[in-house]
Amino acid sequence: TVKKLDKQVSAEINIPGDKSISHRSVIFGSIIPGKTKIKNFLTGEDCKHTLEAFQAMGVKAKFEDDVVIIEGKKLSEMQKPDKAIYLGNYGTSIRLLSGLFSGLKFPTTLTGDASLEKRPMNRVIEPLRLMGAEIKSQEGGLAPLEIQANTELKAINFESKIASAQVKSCLMLASLSAEGETTITEPHLSRDHTERMLEYLGAEIKRDGTKISINGKTAYAQLEAKEIFVPGDISSAAFFMVAAAILNNAEITVKNVGLNPSRIGVLEAFDLMNVDYEILNKRDINNEPIADIKVKSSNIKGAELGGALIPKLIDEIPVLAILAAQAEGQTVIKDAEELRVKESNRIASTLNMLEKLGVTAKETPDGMIIEGRNRKVFNIKPGTSIDSHGDHRLAMSSAIAGLYCDSELNIEKTEFVQTSFPNFFDLLDNLA
Ligand code: S3P
Repeated sequence: TVKKLDKQVSAEINIPGDKSISHRSVIFGSIIPGKTKIKNFLTGEDCKHTLEAFQAMGVKAKFEDDVVIIEGKKLSEMQKPDKAIYLGNYGTSIRLLSGLFSGLKFPTTLTGDASLEKRPMNRVIEPLRLMGAEIKSQEGGLAPLEIQANTELKAINFESKIASAQVKSCLMLASLSAEGETTITEPHLSRDHTERMLEYLGAEIKRDGTKISINGKTAYAQLEAKEIFVPGDISSAAFFMVAAAILNNAEITVKNVGLNPSRIGVLEAFDLMNVDYEILNKRDINNEPIADIKVKSSNIKGAELGGALIPKLIDEIPVLAILAAQAEGQTVIKDAEELRVKESNRIASTLNMLEKLGVTAKETPDGMIIEGRNRKVFNIKPGTSIDSHGDHRLAMSSAIAGLYCDSELNIEKTEFVQTSFPNFFDLLDNLA
């Protein structure tokens, strides 16, 4: 249950490490011989499942708070796990690991929770088959995925129809077991953390706009274990940034946020929507830009969000919908059909959230149209409850809206917040 926040807010907060980067740091830390120390690691459930996958293959790891130390080993030295590998709720885990594990000398089976077993896997199975991988899925290309042993994958030249970092990274990871040069082209640039981490750890890859070429086996041999600091997750920061923008008399600074250009769509949306923010203390850390972001109460304006901007803010759309609902004028979100295959159907679940908040909004095939309330609190019926549909980002977006509702707001299935932002509700309490 979340209550209206009426006080003046002036806060400086630290948020957990970036989920995408934490995840990649576990993968590379596990497959590079030697010791990798990962600082500010996201200890959420999803990244832990990824680490457990490698532990089941004989990789050793130990935790000290948010620091993980991994003793990695070569892919060729991994041991066959004695059961199926469970990856929880996380699409990125199963898609990236299906690529990496396609080149192992033993078979693996990848499973997940009920939501994960409904998400489309053909987007990775089809290109992996072109590389020679043998993967059996359930009907309709769903998990569990049974991946056969194959240590001789082929390099491919693949043009992806969707801008997806998961597809791109899956193929880059498979290429590490393939002779020759693999090339991947995507329609717009999706997040490039895999490319940046490969470069940071010593691999040579070629990048030209939305095209990447990697001589996989050679690149793998170039990798060296190095310490990794995981920047704060801009997708998590977005909740508190939107809170600052919609509340009256608020100013929130989120410290040490990753500002990778392929992830800062939320800031580009802030520019279009007149959100008052400032970037402070910008610097680079292990090939990723990082800074503090200060956001203040804003006179928000509606805007059109679409095209190449969408992959850069794909995970922030539910909370941007809350921002749009407090804007002056209409916000149109388009070219975002990918939202239908996230942790929930995020077009439907976001519209359901807006409806419960008394916002006028309409579903479109590739997004939504939201009528802004021009900074009028959300009028809800006492006892209103929003179903997060087991989607962590829906639960957190609803909680932010709850700070600006005229009655208490209940949110269901908040336990999924553990997957990406374990201390979210503590931070929200501290704000109040
Ligand atoms: C992710 C890529 C995105 C994003 C997901 C994390 C990643 O998915 O939605 O939360 O770490 O590669 P798509 O690449 O499928 O768009």
